[in-house]
Amino acid sequence: MTRFIGRTALVTGAGSGIGRALALAFATEGAQVVVAGRSREPLTETVRLIEEAGGKALTVTADVSRAAEIQAVVDAAVDRFGALDVAVNNAGVFRGGQPLADLSPADWQEQLDINLTGAFLALRAEIRQMRSQPSGGAIVNIASTFGAHTRAPGAAGYAATKAAVSALTRGAALDHIRDGVRINAVSPGAVDTPMSLRAGETEADRADRARATLPLGRVSSRSEIAAAVLYLASDDASSVVGTDLVVDSGATA
Ligand SMILES: NC(=O)c1ccc[n+]([C@@H]2O[C@H](COP(=O)([O-])OP(=O)(O)OC[C@H]3O[C@@H](n4cnc5c(N)ncnc54)[C@H](OP(=O)(O)O)[C@@H]3O)[C@@H](O)[C@H]2O)c1
Repeated sequence: MTRFIGRTALVTGAGSGIGRALALAFATEGAQVVVAGRSREPLTETVRLIEEAGGKALTVTADVSRAAEIQAVVDAAVDRFGALDVAVNNAGVFRGGQPLADLSPADWQEQLDINLTGAFLALRAEIRQMRSQPSGGAIVNIASTFGAHTRAPGAAGYAATKAAVSALTRGAALDHIRDGVRINAVSPGAVDTPMSLRAGETEADRADRARATLPLGRVSSRSEIAAAVLYLASDDASSVVGTDLVVDSGATA
């Protein structure tokens, strides 16, 4: 697969989970990848895996909830590779598991700052770069089914931030498609990363729960999320604008 040869793709939260899978998938399809996150060490491991597979990557540490830091990531991408063609705003945190009245204001604020303000600040920096390029660009935000698509106990604060990411995606898509910037979202259901484990649950417990409750009988893999994101970011989706693609093992069917 060679859909991203010669293109530069930025992935936030690329040191673990879905973000690392995304970075590797873009590299496998020919992109040079800029990996961003707060901790350097896991990003360095992502870059090692990309380089081991023959790809090219650049690490930039940044907190997406800080405007200057995410702007510096976009600037570094352009300095090193000449343009920013694709961006995936994947960085996010889940601070739930308790009823809303027991969610601390600090945890509420952290989810809001990273999941929503982080997505806004990243979009702002990425769009301003992409609309200045003749070739434009494509952006995919990682929302969640918890939000616009469904709700679950213990996740009200998280779902509020992710519902807002879904709305932000559609609004931004309308604002900027005529600038040559195509914006969409992917909303995963439960994925095979630690974030979808309930308190005290092992991976085997989660597999049992998925067998019993999900129509597909299992959670989604990271590569299944990556496949949806790469489709939306690619020219295969050239007239797909402002969609919010659910990948959730049928949970919200
Ligand atoms: N796993 C699921 O079942 C599931 C379902 C629906 C949606 N999602 C969404 O998918 C995305 C990835 O989730 P995941 O399961 O892969 O979780 P993960 O492994 O915890 O990945 C999140 C990544 O975001 C980075 N990050 C967190 N805060 C950041 C910040 N302020 N600035 C920059 N980077 C930051 C983290 O690295 P640092 O801490 O080093 O910065 C980490 O690498 C999230 O947006 C999540 O909400 C996941």
